[in-house]
Amino acid sequence: MSTRRIGPASLNRLLGAWRAERTGPAYRQLADGLRLLILDGRLPLDVVLPGERELATVLEVSRTTVTAALARLRDDGFLERRQGAGARTRLPSGPGQRGQASLIAGTEAEGVIDLASAAPPASDSVHGAFAAALQALPAHLPHHGYAPLGLTELRVAIAERYTARGLPTSPDQVMVTNGAQHAFALMLRLLCGPGDRVVIDHPTYPHAIDAIQRASLRPAPVGLPDDGWDVEGVVAALRQSGPRAAYFIADFHNPTGRWMTPDARAAIAAAAERTRTTLILDETGIDLCLDGPVQPYGFSEPAGVVRLGSMGKSYWGGLRLGWIRADVPTIQALSTRRASIDMGTPLLEQLAAVHLLSDEDAALEARRNLLRARRAHLLGLVRSRLPEWRVTTPPGGLSLWAELPAPVSTMLTATSERFGLRLAAGPRFGVDGAFDRFLRLPYTLPPEDLTEAVERLVQAYGRLRPGQASMRAGMGAVV
Ligand SMILES: Cc1ncc(COP(=O)(O)O)c(C=O)c1O
Repeated sequence: MSTRRIGPASLNRLLGAWRAERTGPAYRQLADGLRLLILDGRLPLDVVLPGERELATVLEVSRTTVTAALARLRDDGFLERRQGAGARTRLPSGPGQRGQASLIAGTEAEGVIDLASAAPPASDSVHGAFAAALQALPAHLPHHGYAPLGLTELRVAIAERYTARGLPTSPDQVMVTNGAQHAFALMLRLLCGPGDRVVIDHPTYPHAIDAIQRASLRPAPVGLPDDGWDVEGVVAALRQSGPRAAYFIADFHNPTGRWMTPDARAAIAAAAERTRTTLILDETGIDLCLDGPVQPYGFSEPAGVVRLGSMGKSYWGGLRLGWIRADVPTIQALSTRRASIDMGTPLLEQLAAVHLLSDEDAALEARRNLLRARRAHLLGLVRSRLPEWRVTTPPGGLSLWAELPAPVSTMLTATSERFGLRLAAGPRFGVDGAFDRFLRLPYTLPPEDLTEAVERLVQAYGRLRPGQASMRAGMGAVV
């Protein structure tokens, strides 16, 4: 296996502003910054870091600082040094490692509040749906249980849902997947080859960026303006970068929560069609409209639009259930390719999903009521406790996209760990270190947890601030 290395300049860029005046010794801040990059995946595992001397030069710190930072990371299990080679990134394993379990995404540690994930708890209807699924299961047990396109009843239910919302769909236009992320990875595999470009919103869902980059594809980001989408910019990117695909989250965008107007959708879809780019719309958040009814599909769909759906945000991420809606040839092509990756989606979850989709209105309304209340709670907290931060009310989705007065998101995320708060730094939502002036704040936790999370955030943020005056100076760019 060839060794992957990261150059000193790239590492410096990834690290961004890692130093603050009042958060302890430089070596510890550097170790925190590097550890965060490893934990949130921006610095992949098994990558060899530059030598200490090179690092010290590019970071403009003493060699002793670098040595101490790397030693600390080694002690904590985030680096290993092989004989004659540089330090290599890894994740801690085993109970012997100090203080790391709480920091690994996806693990829970007592007392740590997780504001890094924007995922609500299971809807009340999920438990009953599994009970109903168990009852329906015996009828399926005489069969082998494999269905690469998904259980027919579920494909019918998904197709009917689209049809009811104004987009006539037949079940053979639907493939059930193990979540929307799986769906996106399958689509990329079908459409693209190494080096191809994929146009994306910027910021966007971090794992979509991961999926693009790990497939050796090149993201072509188009920045989101203050409001809505930069349709002209998207159209120009479609024309100029010769992409194979374009991926947008038009319905309650992650992380900003914004919603794309029908006119913008129509213009982008038409441009994608003109440039023969497959337009992939990620609709995982489509049910999370907090300020109005679910919008029907209002424009006539140009050929080739692919839609990704998920039960994850509407019902529960633990279902691991999503789908692809596309034209029939695309679904057939996916079906023949899928077996190289997996053999289908678990049956019990599909039966539960059929049950959930059979009676949606009350469950989705309860979901939206819960999120509405939590959105209001978090907005109130941020506005009162962090008045220098700019937040607007998103029309839907699961998070606020807070604009900070200075590019300190990475530093704040690293510092917050010490206060028992896990965050996802702004640059996680972009490419090349963008968005260090932003922080995603999900409102998916219960109000009391949100209150405590914001208190911890205030404390961590206070540790960053060199003083009100210089902070104000840093606010120049913020309107
Ligand atoms: C925009 C977006 N797409 C895809 C996913 C992944 O969805 P799933 O859990 O169905 O794989 C998420 C989950 O956070 C998301 O926010």
